[in-house]
Amino acid sequence: MTPTGRNVVVVGTQWGDEGKGKLVDWLAELAQGVVRFQGGHNAGHTLVINGKTTALHLIPSGIMHPSVTCFIGNGVVLSTEKLLEEIAQLEAAGIEVRSRLRISEACPLILPIHSALDIAREAARERGGNQKIGTTGRGIGPAYEDKVARRALRVQDMKHPKRFAEKLEILLDMHNFALKNYLNATPLEFQPMYDTAMAQAEQIKPMMADVSRELNELWREGGNLLFEGAQGSLLDVDHGTYPYVTSSNCVAGNACSGAGVGPQLLNYILGITKAYCTRVGSGPFPTELDIHAEGSVGRHLSTVGAEKGVTTGRERRCGWFDAALLKRSCQINGISGLCITKLDVLDGLDELKLCVGYELDGERIDMLPMGADEIERCQPVYETMEGWKESTFGITQYDKLPMNARLYLQRIEHLVGAPVDIVSTGPDRKQTILLRHPYLAH
Ligand code: GDP
Ligand code: IMO
Ligand code: MG
Repeated sequence: MTPTGRNVVVVGTQWGDEGKGKLVDWLAELAQGVVRFQGGHNAGHTLVINGKTTALHLIPSGIMHPSVTCFIGNGVVLSTEKLLEEIAQLEAAGIEVRSRLRISEACPLILPIHSALDIAREAARERGGNQKIGTTGRGIGPAYEDKVARRALRVQDMKHPKRFAEKLEILLDMHNFALKNYLNATPLEFQPMYDTAMAQAEQIKPMMADVSRELNELWREGGNLLFEGAQGSLLDVDHGTYPYVTSSNCVAGNACSGAGVGPQLLNYILGITKAYCTRVGSGPFPTELDIHAEGSVGRHLSTVGAEKGVTTGRERRCGWFDAALLKRSCQINGISGLCITKLDVLDGLDELKLCVGYELDGERIDMLPMGADEIERCQPVYETMEGWKESTFGITQYDKLPMNARLYLQRIEHLVGAPVDIVSTGPDRKQTILLRHPYLAH
């Protein structure tokens, strides 16, 4: 049989919170399967449907479409506690989840010991006079470390209480030693962690699946798949502002290894891009503005954009659009098209600045360099454009946008070398301008 399914990957092209959740929900209308392939409950994806807001951390943003099957791929680090909480919240809102959610048996588990380590390490960095990473404290880094070190407990271990207990004992022995003797924190007890995990196992078992196999079968039967990235490309552990990054690969290529599909399945890569930049946590941000100065542009972006983290409630740092950063992002993802979000947040600004490159050690460069130390020394080089006074909020047709807004979008396309295929003009599913549909573009 010749497969007819077409598959789209959605990735964040900046430092996360670009609006991936909104677009995954919007695209899921044409998908049969939606898959998370990396990250964990450090993500916070917001969906607004007919004015009703839903925040998701682990469950794929296709869940609001009753006919869509949602998958959690092997690349995700899974807290079963947080997953069950999220399922309960959705169920309370009348959404059926358990029969539509498939969880890879190969997902490494995030256990309470991982968040304890995450939090204790951040505190130790601060005590030692080092800058914190500014993690979400969810245990993401320590869980990925255990995976790579080949000592992680995985979802499939939940089916085997004895095996689970043996592995947990070894794991706790090692991590508790570090907590107590190195991090000056309280060790965690085996029994409550084991008992809780075993009780949760009963609820998780019916959702366990061979996700790789099911995705490949769905596609072969003609289904469209949608791969939902979390975080953003500049938080990628290899390509981002290292060490101020998350602990997974957030780029599109990881959709393959994090879900168990081959690269030939990825037909279109959609780069979700805010019309300006934000960042949560520490690390370099060349175009950053002061968000606290009364009447400033930074303050405007922060307040009009409601830039507060969905997961931790922290204020997001805000700054001008950075085309040199986006160039790096398009390169490492192989972006087919961009979706520019939050264009409406720029309404009313007199002028807009776009960073087109940097001065680094006396040299002019046109693309974000690698790693925090280099990026820290980058001085942004700006180009200025005229803003617009009209409201773009909720506009659904490109030719209804003010001329200067269209010129801004065209300038972005030109600077980064990728087409703008979608524009988002508000948080609601409906507040979207379509220029070229990722599932229909060839
Ligand atoms: P994600 O992590 O990439 O899914 O993004 P978040 O949900 O963390 O953050 C994006 C925020 O912007 C959410 O509050 C969305 O509801 C909101 N949002 C998304 N698109 C737009 C838009 O075009 N305009 C406005 N004003 N808000 C938007
Ligand atoms: P979504 O999917 C924004 C940031 C944290 C911190 C760094 C490392 O909603 O875009 P971690 O807990 O992952 O070890 O923290 O990464 N971070 C995010 N920032 N959006 C996210 O997800 C993020 N997930 C992690 O703030 O700087
Ligand atoms: Mg988010």
